[in-house]
Amino acid sequence: MSFDTSNENKTRQDLTQFDQIWLFAYGSLLYKVDFDYIEKRPAYITGWARKFWQGSHDHRGTHQAPGRVVTLVPQPNTQCHGIAYKVTPQVFEHLDIREKNGYLRHQTTLHLNQGDTKQGIIYIADKHNAAYLGPAPVDEMAKQIHRCHGPSGANRDYLLALNQSLNILGIQDPNIQQLAAAVLGLNDKQLSDE
Ligand code: BEZ
Repeated sequence: MSFDTSNENKTRQDLTQFDQIWLFAYGSLLYKVDFDYIEKRPAYITGWARKFWQGSHDHRGTHQAPGRVVTLVPQPNTQCHGIAYKVTPQVFEHLDIREKNGYLRHQTTLHLNQGDTKQGIIYIADKHNAAYLGPAPVDEMAKQIHRCHGPSGANRDYLLALNQSLNILGIQDPNIQQLAAAVLGLNDKQLSDE
């Protein structure tokens, strides 16, 4: 099964008809902003939770040893906080390649500050994609994240950079805080038992 979702994304929405589009960032797009944007605002979406349930074979792991990265998982009565960027359609040509390992673009309602809502795009890797790993106990996810590396660097650095970005933005996400604490708390005994 192909892991590469970049071609499928091109067929999902015709974004070229718009001059500007809102993009919701909840993961690496919070700290690795390698695209131009026109405006950015704090934002949240409802009904989704951020989880380290997606495999990374191309950035923070390899096909032999996939790392773990974030995706969004449906969860009623939940808000996922992040940043909304106003971008041009060209930005998606870049992001469709960068985020090709199982992520598909979806349209959703973004809640911006001052009660403003906008339609925007989010990338989600759902449970049907070939790179999906799903849930695991926190200590197992922590050990996997500690040992995995890929072309974009250590899986640990991805988690800690995301945790730091959320802290700077004042976003409390217990899933990410707990996992970051578990990775930082791993001791030599636990690692040698691997
Ligand atoms: C994000 O940071 O919004 C994001 C996370 C995973 C894939 C694409 C985007």
